[in-house]
Amino acid sequence: MNIFLDRTSPVALRDQIVAYFETQISLGVFPGGMRLPSVRTLASQIRVNPSTVREAYAELACRDMVEGQGGRGTFVRMGHGPAAPLTIDLDVAREDPHRSIVYTTMVAPGRTDILSLDQQVPAPHLLPFVDLDLATRHIWNPNNQALHHFGDPQGLFDLRERLAHLVAWRGVTRVRADDLLVTSGVVQGLFLCLSLLCRKGDGVIVESPTWGVALSMLDHLGLVARPVPLTPEGMDIDEVDRILERRRARAIFTVPCGHNPTGVSSSVEQRTALLDVARRHGVPIIEDDIYGLLGLSGEEAPSLLALDDERAIVFSLTGVSKSLGPAFRLGWMVPPPRFLDRFIATKQNLDLHTNHIVQYILERYLSLDRFDAHLRRTRGAYKEMRDARIGAVRDVLGDRAEVHEPAGGFALWVRLNGGMPAREIVSRSLRDGVYATPGACFFPVDKEEEGDRFLRLSFTLPEEGQFLSGLRVLAKAMRSAAAA
Ligand SMILES: Cc1ncc(COP(=O)(O)O)c(C=O)c1O
Repeated sequence: MNIFLDRTSPVALRDQIVAYFETQISLGVFPGGMRLPSVRTLASQIRVNPSTVREAYAELACRDMVEGQGGRGTFVRMGHGPAAPLTIDLDVAREDPHRSIVYTTMVAPGRTDILSLDQQVPAPHLLPFVDLDLATRHIWNPNNQALHHFGDPQGLFDLRERLAHLVAWRGVTRVRADDLLVTSGVVQGLFLCLSLLCRKGDGVIVESPTWGVALSMLDHLGLVARPVPLTPEGMDIDEVDRILERRRARAIFTVPCGHNPTGVSSSVEQRTALLDVARRHGVPIIEDDIYGLLGLSGEEAPSLLALDDERAIVFSLTGVSKSLGPAFRLGWMVPPPRFLDRFIATKQNLDLHTNHIVQYILERYLSLDRFDAHLRRTRGAYKEMRDARIGAVRDVLGDRAEVHEPAGGFALWVRLNGGMPAREIVSRSLRDGVYATPGACFFPVDKEEEGDRFLRLSFTLPEEGQFLSGLRVLAKAMRSAAAA
């Protein structure tokens, strides 16, 4: 069992163990009925005194999360875990492939009856719970002004100061606290960009494939995706140029680091070329840099924002969903300075400001100065997980599938051999309770057949044993689809 204990922390080891189990149980990673390791086994695995584990289990029992069953051991209580099952309606997904991305990201993790092999979230055991717990202490305090008033729509100033440091880690040295806007995740930043930069009916260049949520948002806003093939180096620049020559797009949306779903990170030359072409046509680039601090192949190329010397055309978005968890719903954007006021005013009309409590917690967490160490630790761990899961896919799916090493992101993009459509395979594996995302979710509707040659999996969650058993179900679904 992979429990990270921080022995330098003022939080007692017993409480760290309780926090670990509590999280795993409420996320559904440890389902109802699961047996916990015996006190002795766990104590020796994590090198603590057995009485510490015994006390932690007793505390979990007091919180009604586990129960002792006579001499048989300690078990997760039934009925604990995520909310009641919702149904995944693959037929709806079939009619509207972009809807299914929403099912994947929002619904599948909440189901205890379906094992999703595609959860694009940080591995729970790698989250810095102890430090987050520290950051959350003392928040409920009458002197904490952040809690008692409506706040600055641009975001808490102290937090923005700390975020300006993070932006500098991506090679941008000219951005100050006053240049950035705190958002409710990248999703809100993207919504602001698309609604302020485009009008209904406009085209937006996207990589093909691309992040399904972006496609869904384009549909929602009445914008038209203009897909451009993604090469191993990044977007096909000549194609971008051709589309812009014909004035068929008003903006470019790109995920240059750890692209979702393919894992491609574009080279610095490709990024420079994209900027050149966008500048020449006077078209803004919306950069989604959510994986910018989590690159897996050594030095990550500077962000497009860093390469946009005049800060004239790049709208850069990022957030903490992939480093600290999507539950934060917290991100930030850096638009060109002349656009900032319009963005702040629009954001204010949407929700006044991003949740202050969460902003305050993030500010306190960053003040501990351990975010960099957390990122280094997770990058190392994710590299190992990526390599192990690629090995597992190759072993279990054999020549039915091909998978390449992603340079970043959390996704494994699996190309299917043998002509079986991914949606058919997934609807069969779902009968045995296993979900993977059909590739069609990442292509505009008129290209969904191209998407049917792919599946997206995640290498961060579920844990290894569940991943392997899920893969076996997927292999069985492939065999039965081929035989039908
Ligand atoms: C490419 C990409 N951008 C952004 C996000 C998350 O955005 P947010 O900060 O709104 O959680 C994801 C999560 O799946 C993603 O894959």
